[in-house]
Amino acid sequence: MSLRRIGVLTSGGDSPGMNAAIRAVVRTALYYGLEVYGIKRGYAGLLAEEIEPMSSISVGGIINRGGTILRTARCEEFKTPAGLQKAAAILDKHGIDALVIIGGDGSMRGAVELSRICPVKVMGIPGTIDNDIPGTDYSIGFDTAVNTALEAIDKVRDTAYSHERVFVIEVMGRHKGFIALEVGLAGGAEAILIPEVPYDLADLLDKLHESYKRGKTSSIIVVAEGAARAEDVKKFLQEHTPYHLRALVLGHMQRGGSPTAFDRVLATQLGHYAVRRLLDGHTNEMVGLEGGRLVSVPIEYIQTTVKTIDVRKLELANIMAT
Ligand code: ADP
Ligand code: F6P
Repeated sequence: MSLRRIGVLTSGGDSPGMNAAIRAVVRTALYYGLEVYGIKRGYAGLLAEEIEPMSSISVGGIINRGGTILRTARCEEFKTPAGLQKAAAILDKHGIDALVIIGGDGSMRGAVELSRICPVKVMGIPGTIDNDIPGTDYSIGFDTAVNTALEAIDKVRDTAYSHERVFVIEVMGRHKGFIALEVGLAGGAEAILIPEVPYDLADLLDKLHESYKRGKTSSIIVVAEGAARAEDVKKFLQEHTPYHLRALVLGHMQRGGSPTAFDRVLATQLGHYAVRRLLDGHTNEMVGLEGGRLVSVPIEYIQTTVKTIDVRKLELANIMAT
């Protein structure tokens, strides 16, 4: 069956570059003569039938804007069999032949479940700052989030140096340490704690003592939220050292801001490619970028595969901290 009408939605945690991806999906679809409908507030908006036609003008002036003009949400009802059936019926009612889902790991899982019960063609685009989705080297928003966190860490380093303090800085990433590792390496952190690699706070303490013996007077410790809470690490270190410690949680600021050139280009390529794959008759896939090439994987791939972190980067960071 040829495509006539596609829907697009953003779901889960927002990420900078989602707008650029929406723009690419809409303009590519229009270019090839398709109708495009924007679905507001992710799966929640789909269940609430918040569905509106989109035009080229409706995605004007958004390539540089963080967040998502379609808004986003998390939706428990969509996880239920009844919720999925309801979504399938609504898509059918609105004559939507294919659905492009821009979101994180959870949103892709939702896409898998929908694809199992619904004849609508499904295409996923990875959009999350966490970069934890297998099948792509980068998800939309990761690069921007890393640069945002890095800018903050660079600023903290100035005050850490002046006051001779140790800062324990917690970054996002949910259960994964991709942001922490990238930011820690780029920011010259004295230590990086990530969930993928077991750590011992007593070792961290020794490392800190060693570095002070060598003449260091301030330090930055980057902690992935999935590995530890900054406050707990700070407390432990404070109990065992005379150094002045501060804990800082960077939080949601990491999800905002204008996307980097890398994220805008990635989003534009993936948005275009997602529609091209649908037009070429493919379905139930997620598009991605691997080794610099556009790729697509069966969407179930995200359920059966775990994205691994490059531990050599952690070893490199440790060498740089000696
Ligand atoms: P992200 O997409 O950023 O990882 P979440 O993990 O919160 O964010 O997932 C976003 C939404 O995707 C959830 O609120 C839910 O509606 C949907 N979802 C997640 N997992 C499933 C699942 N196993 N089945 C159906 N829908 C799911
Ligand atoms: O998945 C993106 C993310 O920002 C994670 O890094 C973080 O754990 C989570 O979302 C925070 O979610 P919320 O916006 O619900 O606080």
